[in-house]
Amino acid sequence: MRQKFVCGNWKMNGTIEETRKLLFQLNVEWSKTCENIEVAVCPPFTSLLIAKHELEFAKIKFGAQNCHWQDKGAFTGEISAVMLAELDCTYVIVGHSERRTLFGETNETVAKKAAAVIQAGMLPIICVGETEKEREANQTEAVLRAQIEGSLATITNENCSKMVIAYEPVWAIGTGKNATPAQAQEAHAFIRSELKMRYGNAADSIQILYGGSLKPENADAIFAQPDVDGGLIGGASLDAGSFVRIIESAAETRA
Ligand code: 13P
Repeated sequence: MRQKFVCGNWKMNGTIEETRKLLFQLNVEWSKTCENIEVAVCPPFTSLLIAKHELEFAKIKFGAQNCHWQDKGAFTGEISAVMLAELDCTYVIVGHSERRTLFGETNETVAKKAAAVIQAGMLPIICVGETEKEREANQTEAVLRAQIEGSLATITNENCSKMVIAYEPVWAIGTGKNATPAQAQEAHAFIRSELKMRYGNAADSIQILYGGSLKPENADAIFAQPDVDGGLIGGASLDAGSFVRIIESAAETRA
């Protein structure tokens, strides 16, 4: 049985002080035991150290939003997976659509980053998803297939259990227009079938998260889909109350 997983992607939000406050609120609001659900937050790099302190005794894990694939060297402005592992990050998001479209991330760099994250002992959350134009042109499956082939090129049978996939349709990110539960299920089932072709039955254990305008109001229906194993939440993860309601929704649908 795949465990449900709810992860907040804070993007470029949160000073150190704001991070401390939000994590404090999160700890207060969500004090229930969480045996059947995993929860994590991915704040900006500058807030990872305070996250480590604030979450020391919490059940909430934390991760980063990007990394470089080399361990060290002349790469001004970059942060390596090794450095993130030293901070006790559990996860690193790689290949988010904002990085692909705004910062020139390619399937090839995503694959290198994913390998570096695993090598450093963490789990990559590898993002895939089609644009609105691609969906309208009936290219969703072709786009997802190419992203999976390219971005997972470094993931072998041996380490395929050490990654998480996030399906984030670009048209749903930050737009308030989420995929319908049926659209999410269809895409997740397709992704799982592609994973099965690559990794066989091990694909049944790989968590596939949905991301894109997930909110407390639509979480129940999306999380109820059989191939949706949780969510990668942007805007709604910046409010402790909303994020906790989404976590509870995931915990209830899996129960
Ligand atoms: P929103 O939840 O704000 O649409 O963002 C989704 C996302 O990009 C998570 O990685």
